[in-house]
Amino acid sequence: MSSPRQFFVGGNFKMNGDISSIKSIVTHLNDAKTDSNTEVVIAPPALYLLLTREHLRSGIEVAAQNVFDKPNGAFTGEISVAQLKDSNITWTLLGHSERRVVLQETDEFVARKTKTAIDGGIGVILCCGETLEQREADKTIEVVTSQLSAVAKTVQDWSKIVVAYEPIWAIGTGKVASTQQAQEVHKAIREWIGKELGEEAAKKTRVIYGGSVSEKNCKELAKEEDIDGFLVGGASLKPAFVDIINAKA
Ligand code: G3P
Repeated sequence: MSSPRQFFVGGNFKMNGDISSIKSIVTHLNDAKTDSNTEVVIAPPALYLLLTREHLRSGIEVAAQNVFDKPNGAFTGEISVAQLKDSNITWTLLGHSERRVVLQETDEFVARKTKTAIDGGIGVILCCGETLEQREADKTIEVVTSQLSAVAKTVQDWSKIVVAYEPIWAIGTGKVASTQQAQEVHKAIREWIGKELGEEAAKKTRVIYGGSVSEKNCKELAKEEDIDGFLVGGASLKPAFVDIINAKA
């Protein structure tokens, strides 16, 4: 039975690229034959959001990699939801492990930013994931559901939220989670959504996988019942990103 959820592939460029390389990626995506059943969103660095939106074909959405939780004001260096919408940016990543670890973003801060984004009318790719130590201590589900619970405390409508499970030990390491490891956590996340937000939300919320996804491993992962797509880092900067977008084709 085909999934009731539209397949979703995000590209997180992180702090990579310059005007020339991002223009080349955009040209490659504009010319590529991509699966029309797959929803595609790319997240360049903030400086290049307008450039990307201006040159990228419609049908591929653009996401910020972060957004602030206040509507406007004296918050040097931050970007607001209204400013993203003003620029026709329709999504944002939030809670990426690199911000939780490097910038010490708390679950509560991520939750506040998620609420601000959803209330402001943009979609959220909500990242969660455990460290290797937490996995080895068998705490993966506890950690991931605790990160998601902080958001559920203030956001009840998850129809514009895509959950990205990204085991920290698989990010940028080349050590992709096995299909079994990923499916297990995705299933647990979906069960948690069902318990906390209702069966409809469990059925409809996309849960995507991130962490060393490549054109070599994406097709196997995409076959798993509870893996609804990918959040791709390094490989999103390469032409093979199109193969990942077409993983279900
Ligand atoms: O947000 C996606 C990212 O964390 C995964 O990175 O390079 O392992 O695909 P990468």
